[in-house]
Amino acid sequence: MVNLTDDEKRMLQGEDGVIPQVCMQYLVEMCQVAGAEKLVDLDGTGDMHTPGISLSQHYSFTFEDLKALAESGAQFKVPTFANKAPFGELTPVHGWQHCHMRSYGGQYHDDPEFHKKAMHEEYYTLYRKMGMMTTFSCANYLTMSFLPSIGQHCTWFESSQIPYCNATLGARTNIDGSFATCLLGKAPYYGMHITENRYATVLVKTERLIQTDLEWDVFGFAVGEDVGVDVPVLLGTAKPTTTQFQKLNSAIHTGGGVSMYHIPGSTPEAPSLEWALGGKKPIRETIIGDKELKNAYEKLNYHTSDVVDMVYLGCPHLNVVDMMRLARKLEGKKCAVPLWIMTAPWLYETAKNLGYVKVYEEAGAHLMSGTCPAAMGGVPEGVKNLAVDTAKQAYYITGCYPDDDNKLQVCYGSTDDCIDAALSGRWRGEWK
Ligand code: F3S
Repeated sequence: MVNLTDDEKRMLQGEDGVIPQVCMQYLVEMCQVAGAEKLVDLDGTGDMHTPGISLSQHYSFTFEDLKALAESGAQFKVPTFANKAPFGELTPVHGWQHCHMRSYGGQYHDDPEFHKKAMHEEYYTLYRKMGMMTTFSCANYLTMSFLPSIGQHCTWFESSQIPYCNATLGARTNIDGSFATCLLGKAPYYGMHITENRYATVLVKTERLIQTDLEWDVFGFAVGEDVGVDVPVLLGTAKPTTTQFQKLNSAIHTGGGVSMYHIPGSTPEAPSLEWALGGKKPIRETIIGDKELKNAYEKLNYHTSDVVDMVYLGCPHLNVVDMMRLARKLEGKKCAVPLWIMTAPWLYETAKNLGYVKVYEEAGAHLMSGTCPAAMGGVPEGVKNLAVDTAKQAYYITGCYPDDDNKLQVCYGSTDDCIDAALSGRWRGEWK
């Protein structure tokens, strides 16, 4: 039984028009599936995959309906950001000219006509009129310049962003950002919106100080595998940097489905271990020691040859500091194999202004934006062995190659291992 306010009931009966009605029907069904008794009014921000007019198998509306809504002056109820490049084609926003590979529909990403069509400007003209910021990134928090504050209720999407919102920022979201939640400014009230569900139940210890970027990535994946969807409190780590939070958040929601974690002294809802646990005892204790870390590293590293055909960096999309560091490391060098670097579209121009794009191009590398190989459906033909520096990309890219005889091989390691592979065409990374 979902308890709706009078306003919500009115919307459900169609008194506010067809789109609010479809959105409310969808939210009510989401509540029923999730066991939520009511909707929560959002006061944070929204993030949704676009175009997004097909909410589910049962609930959708037409482009003409959307046009009529936008022209009537309707606005998204919360500040709303577009997740990565338009769904369907997921073509790069920048750098598509370097991307000679087939899209899901069979056309080439570097075909100018295809690119124009795949950007679906007809939708974004309407969406911008309704207030959407078309950031097109799986790491919108890098560019939104309007982050939700602690305790605010949000509706975000993209697995790596969910723990970023909950754990890193202390705002509250489930993985439910959609046209319906953003337009109505409402979401089912369950999971991470409820204070009680945010306390840690699993205490995770380590045997080594987790401090390098690679250690954070491998550790995040191994913790996720161990705790599943529970809320862990992580002990025995250094304080994560911005890059390391990006890696931890993407890896922990890849190895498992962790939406929330605590690091006492680092994350906002854990000034101490006692606070993280909500004053209770943990239900379980576990150790992610050297054996578990090595296992995770080996699981993510599935290659039989050390000959690398291509390198990909930028999962989640790179922040500006990582792009600067990469430029310094590539300056005056030449890549032996293609190196793709991915960032958020709004950071592309920044990287250009700062001279990084020129450095990359002179080294034979390409900066792109808004998508990634796993989202685009794979890598260019002929690439048999890809080097990456994040668990999430290593894990999901194989999903693009379901045929076991034709599986893409993946070398997984540190960013420096990947740069070395780009310059030499060889994989020399190893777990230390
Ligand atoms: Fe983003 Fe693709 Fe990684 S969408 S988080 S770069 S798998």
